[in-house]
Amino acid sequence: MRLLVTGGAGFIGSHFVDLRLKQHARDLVVVLDKLTYAGNPANLAGARRNPRFKFIKGDICEARTVERIIRKYRLEVIVNFAAETHVDRSILSPEDFARTDVLGTQTLLEAVRRHRMKRFLQISTDEVYGSIERGAFRETDDLKPSSPYSASKAGGDLQVLAYRHTYGLPVLIARSSNNFGPRQYPEKLIPLFVTNALENKLLPLYGDGLNTRDWIYVEDNCRGLDSILEQGIPGEIYNLGAGNTHTNWEITSTILKLLIKPESLVKHVIDRLGHDRRYALNTRKIRELGWQPAWPFVKALKHTVEWYQDHPEWWQSLKSGEYMQYYRRQYQKRHRVK
Ligand code: NAD
Ligand code: DAU
Repeated sequence: MRLLVTGGAGFIGSHFVDLRLKQHARDLVVVLDKLTYAGNPANLAGARRNPRFKFIKGDICEARTVERIIRKYRLEVIVNFAAETHVDRSILSPEDFARTDVLGTQTLLEAVRRHRMKRFLQISTDEVYGSIERGAFRETDDLKPSSPYSASKAGGDLQVLAYRHTYGLPVLIARSSNNFGPRQYPEKLIPLFVTNALENKLLPLYGDGLNTRDWIYVEDNCRGLDSILEQGIPGEIYNLGAGNTHTNWEITSTILKLLIKPESLVKHVIDRLGHDRRYALNTRKIRELGWQPAWPFVKALKHTVEWYQDHPEWWQSLKSGEYMQYYRRQYQKRHRVK
């Protein structure tokens, strides 16, 4: 396949690029990434050694850039990871989320339509369904997003479905649960808590710490996305989760045990505004494609913790960078945490 991977310099996108280059010997993989604070060229260090890989810095909202790249490399497929992704940032400043996650998705769909491309895979999230007290969401459930982030992602999904209904485009949507693994920006729960604990800093646990997420190791997620791209039925939505539902407290205490750090590092702070209580996915549909997770949860978490221990050069500069410092100040003001 000749693929355009948008947002490929981010966390999940860069793992997906590695997987495609390794497992599909004939692929050409072109990454288009704006290199926002979350995009990191170092994430693509392995891919850059491959002659079947190209990187272009650019914005998915710019139609001319997108079209030029598609024509130049005769691209057939788009996999769209590009997004603003952090819920807390969307609460502080929602504008970029609507722009990239809705308008950017629509811009890419328009390019798929004009160039009669073979496939478009939208990387969406379980957060579009909202919170669920018991049981698990199915692909047919209504969308009830609660944060500016999830509302923007839901807006992107609706654009994808509209382009299917109106123009018959060969689109697919993957709705993944919470990913974790190497190279995740140290603002998300697991990398933030692991790196804070390594630095003996406090771990700011929101509210009562009993909010629950359905965790999936990033490599398992990328293999699932690959199955959807290769075998999914156009027009269909696929939930993608590993069934590892844990409270934030359980995640925190497992991290502390793995690092042999005291529970006194945990600081209960004011809750996130509009904080969704629980996410869980029914994944029968993707399992029918033959996919299943390969990594047991604690083994994957241990591997992840060890990666952050072994790669301080990757995260220390990000945590001390200007953008992160500004964001932390806003966040500390709201959460009253040092
Ligand atoms: P990330 O924040 O690590 O990376 C996002 C990437 O998109 C960055 O490289 C950034 O530079 C790029 N980008 C942002 N705006 C852009 C624009 N306008 N044009 C081009 N590039 C742009 O994100 P991630 O955690 O790897 O998530 C990737 C995708 O997966 C997102 O669409 C997200 O909604 C979805 N998702 C993430 C998770 C998770 O747990 N991380 C779970 C479910 C779904
Ligand atoms: O569910 C999939 C989604 O998972 C993705 O679509 C998003 O892009 C991704 O950011 C993630 O969203 P969450 O809000 O679930 O992830 P986050 O790591 O920000 O938070 C996980 C849980 O931990 C959540 O209940 C809030 C809590 N938390 C988070 C942070 C950053 C804390 O208690 N303290 C913190 O400092």
